[in-house]
Amino acid sequence: MKKRKILVTGGMGYIGSHTVVELQNAGCDVVIVDDLSNSNAAVIDGIEKITGIRPMFYKEDCLNKSGLEMIFEAEEGIDGIIHFAAKKAVNESVQKPLYYYRNNIMSLINLLELMAQFGVKNLVFSSSCTVYGQPDHLPVTETAPVKTATSPYGNTKQICEEIIRDTSAADANLNAILLRYFNPIGAHPSALIGELPNGVPMNLVPFITQTAAGIRPELKVFGNDYNTPDGSCIRDYINVVDLAKAHVVALDRMISGKNKQKVECFNIGTGRGLSVLELVETFQRVNGVPLPYKIVGRREGDIEQIWADPAYANDELGWKAQETTDDTLRSAWKWQMHLAENQKKEAES
Ligand code: UD1
Repeated sequence: MKKRKILVTGGMGYIGSHTVVELQNAGCDVVIVDDLSNSNAAVIDGIEKITGIRPMFYKEDCLNKSGLEMIFEAEEGIDGIIHFAAKKAVNESVQKPLYYYRNNIMSLINLLELMAQFGVKNLVFSSSCTVYGQPDHLPVTETAPVKTATSPYGNTKQICEEIIRDTSAADANLNAILLRYFNPIGAHPSALIGELPNGVPMNLVPFITQTAAGIRPELKVFGNDYNTPDGSCIRDYINVVDLAKAHVVALDRMISGKNKQKVECFNIGTGRGLSVLELVETFQRVNGVPLPYKIVGRREGDIEQIWADPAYANDELGWKAQETTDDTLRSAWKWQMHLAENQKKEAES
């Protein structure tokens, strides 16, 4: 039987690289398109070490439509696309809104036009729980209303979801699954791939691991006066490998014609809410490392609390988060140690 061929934009990134591994584990042929703007060419070596297969890789920016078109021409018979390639820093998006709108929206439009041109029918899109804002009811289900975005980044996710719905409504061939991620954390258990933050990490777990490693003096916990049991914000932290597996299942659902609607949307979370302080405590306990931290003021734009109702994904996709927070935070720390070892080796050589 012909192997399924899957094009993964942003496949060298954090979630992308873990998904490439899971696609290969599921027997797919993977073609990565990535401009390496927020990743590293060596990621492909990590992927190859884990799976024994080096995926096809094109260094290309999805904004360059003619470059992308050449890839579609070279790679005939693509069964599905996972579109990760996008900018994702909330703060930066407030500073550079047009850069975010151009990047995240134009790259999707280029891809959708080329999908129609080359007869590629199935798309998985990286969306975010940010579309729910602060939900009125918790845990949040997929039927909760989309709230006005609090950042240009969040708005690009909402707009891209709309573009996909409109395009699919007009094109009988286009199926899509929108995966609304909660907070992805951790790394592959092999510690051969993981998150590679650019500069000072904005997200909680990379900041924690860098602080525990002594790279940062202390973690700042943004606010302890929220209306939550310990006063810190609550999120649904999902293991990145679990998240990666959701993409494989979503693609299979469309390729094998099991999708019930042309565009479907799923929450990809654990269903467990954890506060920042609980996460800090768990990290220290499972890894046996101290984590200096101090409570500071709230971060502008933060949502107080959100966690997923993943029942629809569990029932319809047959996907469920498997990893415990303990193991996930162990994997995050193991990855940080691996990075430190690599840096030491580089410095010595
Ligand atoms: C944010 C976005 C999300 C986006 C993600 C990707 C919103 C509401 N959320 O998630 O859509 O996909 O970034 O970058 O726009 N924290 C600290 N100290 C730190 C860092 C974080 O206390 O140094 C706290 C935050 O206040 C928050 C929690 O940790 O309560 C998680 O923060 P973070 O990892 O940045 O993710 P989100 O803000 O949830």
